[in-house]
Amino acid sequence: MSRLEINPKRELGRRDKKIYGHFLEHFHRQIYGGIFDPESPLSGSSGYRQDVMEALKRIEVPIVRWPGGCFVSAYHWKDAIGKQRTPYFDKAWRVEESNKFGTDEFIEYCRLIGAEPYICTNAGTGSPEEMSDWVEYCNLPSEGKWAKLRIENGHPEPYKVKYWSIGNENYGDWEMGAKNLREWGRFVKESAKMMKRVDPNIELLAASISDLDWNLNLLREAGNYLDWISIHDYWDHLGQVNDLSNYESCMAYTMEIEKPILKTKNILGSLGYLGRIRIAYDEWNLRGWHHPHINSGTEDYITPRDKNDINSSYTMADAVFTACFLNQCHKHSDVVGMANFAPTVNTRGAIFTHQDGLVLRSSYFVFELYIRHLGDIVVDSWLSENSAFDVETAGKTTSVPHVDAVATKRTGSEDLRIALVNRHPDRAESVSLHLGSAVQYSNAVLYSVVGDSKDAYNDIGKEQVRVIEQPLHWNTQSDVRVEIQPHSVNVLVIK
Ligand code: AHR
Repeated sequence: MSRLEINPKRELGRRDKKIYGHFLEHFHRQIYGGIFDPESPLSGSSGYRQDVMEALKRIEVPIVRWPGGCFVSAYHWKDAIGKQRTPYFDKAWRVEESNKFGTDEFIEYCRLIGAEPYICTNAGTGSPEEMSDWVEYCNLPSEGKWAKLRIENGHPEPYKVKYWSIGNENYGDWEMGAKNLREWGRFVKESAKMMKRVDPNIELLAASISDLDWNLNLLREAGNYLDWISIHDYWDHLGQVNDLSNYESCMAYTMEIEKPILKTKNILGSLGYLGRIRIAYDEWNLRGWHHPHINSGTEDYITPRDKNDINSSYTMADAVFTACFLNQCHKHSDVVGMANFAPTVNTRGAIFTHQDGLVLRSSYFVFELYIRHLGDIVVDSWLSENSAFDVETAGKTTSVPHVDAVATKRTGSEDLRIALVNRHPDRAESVSLHLGSAVQYSNAVLYSVVGDSKDAYNDIGKEQVRVIEQPLHWNTQSDVRVEIQPHSVNVLVIK
């Protein structure tokens, strides 16, 4: 039995919908054979898979980051616009990139699914000038040769792309044109200057890591130009130590989610940037490269084969982790304003495409539940009673509380909208809710993402993970309680 106390009158922050954002990279089957597949009978005349678009619309994707990832660090956008598309060899993923899907297609795609475009630029082999030309192509009405070229290419109206990132993980050796900390701060500043000279209304992001010196240097050099600081995490840490091979160990990593947020928040605070620069968690996923079905090693990392694309790898552990991640973004909504699930489609994505249709993996349903049912105001809540189970993983013991929760309401409404996650692998949990005396509630609906077992997954012709809906009624205010299934993600809407 757990006990959740809620003070609906104490508002902690405003959730930014961009925390439900996504990421699409030119990698494996995300773009070609994922969202864009002109050969498929499931695609419309412009070559976009209709079923994928419908699935993305259903989860109201607020923002899409593109085109990379590592891919972007040797990408030249000018080769992928207009009629003349020049293919090239992509050194990040060692495949030929046709350049058939470029800036104009990305913007068109975002408009079709109703998402805001977010462009990540080439800070590897690219230059500040190439970045600012890209801003000109997208955002200037007609001044300059690049804006004129956009018009010539059939797009008279500026695209008004607001969010731009200077580079990707340029701190990493795996990235083409990686930078050291001194080079990074300077490069970000010079790029930002040029980009904002073209369009002062854009918002800029640049990569931060948990290294203090890196951040100090970046923020001292370029802090005045930045609106966001970008962090990434995959909880296998690129395969170094973590073990995601079973449900329980994945639950131990739910206890790690908050750490990078707190670290970055503290750095921003210590340099006086809290309230001015926000955190964009613009790549995140429980699983990075190594999980049960993947052979590790460089060979797999660099070849186009992708063993991440196996549906049985994405179980209720992924759904529960996704919910705990989003809960932390809600709790830190004063500073976390964007997050991009990496990636949206195929490889480790929430949607898997095949020639006859698609499979919605477990995380997909969490986005659906949260976007539809949670509110924009985060209110105070705390678990005053919550049992825990121990998980032994990577040589250490982690105590994992059964329940994770966040309480919200919507502007203009007294209804309470509470995310309730039961991490326990096989025990249902009874949660009693204490809402204060001021407001009386008696009716509710419980929306839940449930799986047949903790290892349940969806695949072609196999549906083990689904959303269910249950009406509830309480006779007395002292007995507001709810029973949540093991390994489940829930949103309780109480009226
Ligand atoms: O998703 C694959 C890669 O993971 C991305 O390109 C990179 O940014 C991250 O390390």
